[in-house]
Parts: sequence; C-alpha cells; structure tokens
Amino acid sequence: MTFSSQVNPIIWQDDMVYLVDQTLLPHQYTLKSIKTAQEMANAIKTMVVRGAPAIGVSAAYGIYLGAREIEHTEDRELFLKNLEKIAQILGKTRPTAVNLFWAIERVMKVAKETVADVDTIKKKLLLEAQKIQQEDIETCLAIGKEGLAILPKTPEKLTILTHCNAGALATAGYGTALGVIRSAWSAGRLKRVFADETRPRLQGAKLTTWECVQEGIDVTLITDNMAAHCMKQGMINAVVVGADRIAANGDTANKIGTYGLAVVSKMHNVPFFVAAPLSTVDFSLATGEQIPIEERNNSEISYVGETLICPEQGVDFYNPAFDVTNADLITAIITEKGSVKPSELLTLKG
Ligand code: MRU
Repeated sequence: MTFSSQVNPIIWQDDMVYLVDQTLLPHQYTLKSIKTAQEMANAIKTMVVRGAPAIGVSAAYGIYLGAREIEHTEDRELFLKNLEKIAQILGKTRPTAVNLFWAIERVMKVAKETVADVDTIKKKLLLEAQKIQQEDIETCLAIGKEGLAILPKTPEKLTILTHCNAGALATAGYGTALGVIRSAWSAGRLKRVFADETRPRLQGAKLTTWECVQEGIDVTLITDNMAAHCMKQGMINAVVVGADRIAANGDTANKIGTYGLAVVSKMHNVPFFVAAPLSTVDFSLATGEQIPIEERNNSEISYVGETLICPEQGVDFYNPAFDVTNADLITAIITEKGSVKPSELLTLKG
C-alpha cells in the first residue's frame, strides 16, 4: 500500500534525520536536521517531534544515530553496552507514550540478536528504524479503513470532533484519529472536523487545523471548553481521538482533556472512538491507573505565547500532559487489526 502525503514529519536523507519542527508550525515549516542520539533526545523532549507513533519512529532512528557515534570498537559486547546507555537516554525523554519504549525495545532486540560484527549491526539498526517508519504508514492506513467502517451510518455526512493532533505529524504520515477522518473525507462521509484547540500546547489549533487546511478538509476550530456546548446543540456526530498508551482493559491515556471529552460524549450519547496502533497498547498494564502521566513545565500554562497570564508570584501550578479515559466511556478502539470494544482488546494480542 502506498500513500503520498505532503506531511512527512520524519525524513531520512543524506545520512541524517530531518524532523519537521512542530514547535514552529503553523507559521513556519522548517526541517531540523538531527545527526546524533542526543539531538534526537532533545527533539523529543522539547516536542520538535511529538505524537506517540512519531516519537517511536524518531527514537528508533535515535538508536541508530547513537550506534553510529560509537567509534573504534570491534568489541560487540562493549558496543551493546554503550548502545544500552543511548537507549536509556532516549527512554528518559517522555514517559507516557508507550510507542517510545516499544520502538526502543524493538531496535535493541535487533542489536542483541544480530550475531555479527559491529558494522553489520549498525546497518541492521538503520534498516529496522526505516521498517518501523514504513510499517507505521501502513498501520495508519489500515486504521483509517477500519475506522471508516465503524463510524455511525447516519447522517450520511458526519461532523467529527477530535482532540490534540493524532495526524500525519504525530505518526510517520497519515495519522490515527486524523487518519480515520482523512479516510472519511476521501469516502465522502465527512462534513467537517471540529478541532479542539488543546490547551496548553495547542496541538489542535496549531497542527490539526494546519493538516486539514493542507488537504482541503473543512475544519472548525473551537476552544476546549466549547465541546460540551457543541454536543448539546447536536453539532457533533462522533468523537475520534488518538492514544499514547492503552492498558490491557482498554483504559486509555491521551492528551489532557480527552477524559473530559469522553465524559461529555457519554452524557450526550455521542460515540467516542480511540484510534491507535497495537504498538500503543501496553498489555503489561492491567488498568490505566498504572500509566505514568508526564508533568510538564509550569510555563506552558502560565504563559500564552510570550504573555504571562497570571500573577508573577503566589500561584501554584499543576500541568499534567495526559489523562486517562476509563474504558467504559469508549465506544470502540480502532486498530489496524480491526475495531473492538475495550473489553475485547485482549483478543487482538499478538
Ligand atoms: O504531547 P503530545 O503532543 O505528544 O501528545 C500527543 C497526543 O496526545 C496524541 O493524541 C497521541 O500521541 C496520539 S498520536 C497518533
């Protein structure tokens, strides 16, 4: 299956990685070159690249870049020991999206299982990173197809609300939640997308609307606190969001605000779908309570752009980047292997 997208957030070219700098969008489309593992770790941490699958692909390339930096060693064991240190640096960048750990583990397995000289291992690491990237595009296309099949049959043209950015930028291309939306748009089943702005980092306003505009998908931007009102007015037919980590029982961590959205969806009988690859499911965790939630810098909520929006002193902050939506609020989880009720997730375990 092929898909040509104008939005290609991670590019391997001229022996280095180029990332679309997502901190500069929508006003500036800039490619940032990444030549070392540390540069990749910084890019993930500072959200130059973000979104669970995109973080995974980037980390996989990060391992290769790190491997390339390990010079003057013909000693395979020493090489693997140094590579482990690089894996740890990359693994400390963001705690919630399990795709990061999934991808690191996958490439590290290749390194450990390749009984060959160091140069051969290095080549295999690059091939594995490229494979993860290619597979992610195919996975997203499959999610798009599965999602289209499960969307409400009426009205013929749906208005779908999404939160944060689970689009091409958040993956290797195409997207998960936005992949379902893209696929509905291509099939003539989409009237328009409502994009939550997604405070505090504004991924909905900055990235989701940008992707929609690139592709000519009709999009309406709302602030997060408007979603309930829109549902009450009957303006929303379905909600489709992505995920950063799904526990075995279907509890789902996604961008902060997702849980509230699921609660109001239930209240208004609006179906609430989570679209994610199986690499986002952490079958080792029984429930969402065990999912680590990243807390980010206070400045993300005390400032809007350059403007301080609260008193300079005397205010405390709490800035969780994700929340967990209880499985019973989720209508279905859309994966590349089909859509299931959260309680049936275990049937998809490979
Ligand atoms: O903090 P971010 O921007 O990395 O958070 C991204 C999300 O929450 C996405 O919805 C999720 O990673 C799914 S991306 C396909």
